[in-house]
Amino acid sequence: MKDRYAVVGNPVEHSRSPAIHALFAAQTGQSLVYERLLAPMDGFEAALRAFAADGARGCNITVPFKFDAFALAATRTERAQLAGAVNTLRFDAGRWAGDNTDGAGLGNDIQRNAGRALAGRQVLLVGAGGAGAGVLGSLIAAGPARITIANRSIDKAQALAASHAHLGVPLVATTLTDAPAAQDIVINATSTSLAGAASPVDARVLQPGALALDMMYGPKAQGFLDWAAAHGAEPRDGLGMLVEQAAEAFFFWRGVRPDTAPVLAHLRASL
Ligand code: ATR
Repeated sequence: MKDRYAVVGNPVEHSRSPAIHALFAAQTGQSLVYERLLAPMDGFEAALRAFAADGARGCNITVPFKFDAFALAATRTERAQLAGAVNTLRFDAGRWAGDNTDGAGLGNDIQRNAGRALAGRQVLLVGAGGAGAGVLGSLIAAGPARITIANRSIDKAQALAASHAHLGVPLVATTLTDAPAAQDIVINATSTSLAGAASPVDARVLQPGALALDMMYGPKAQGFLDWAAAHGAEPRDGLGMLVEQAAEAFFFWRGVRPDTAPVLAHLRASL
């Protein structure tokens, strides 16, 4: 029987993860199936235990269960610990291992796929919610000169900066309106794109030619991408991050690293 995996969330029917992992499996010759699992809002743990009891080997976790998954993991990678959230579980016998691959996915997409250095650069992370918190540790690990965390409510930005302050990269917390000008890399990790808004920050944050990345993809990201292009930045959606975080999860489960480029190209063409 093939090894079983799934993406668990609510909602989950929109998820592209099954398509991505099917392509990874075909490419690497790994024998597995990857499904979608809709967990009831109040039934995440039960759904997960039933899936594992059924012989499944692991899962990805998406909104809104990444914090619940963190709590259920018996062991956690350092990056999951930092993020305070788990997006990948491996059902090791009796002890579930938790990882968070979102930040590495974002970092790999920026540095490899977009070909942009993070080291030594001025980075603006917009949004201090779950999405922002999930990637900050990995951004820091890439060695930027400074990361500014801008959030509508500054207390959340300050708390996030404080919890990562020991990692050795200068972190600054600001409101959206006080976000600094001329940043090299601007990352939108707010949920404003869900509302079709252009950008939560003013265009002066963009250094000419800056990379402006929205973690969303598809129509949700379009407002931000149009805004970035209109102000001389290079727009980038979250599709590359999605494929890269999946590749990290695939490696966490299988010990095999898939080639992401053809999978990203395939997905891009099918959008
Ligand atoms: P997620 O897990 O997607 O990050 P979240 O934890 O609810 O979701 O965080 C949503 C983020 O989008 C937060 O940074 C939030 O700002 P606040 O912390 O001030 O709430 C931000 N956000 C949501 N709606 C927004 C809006 N209309 N304008 C600006 N920021 C917004």
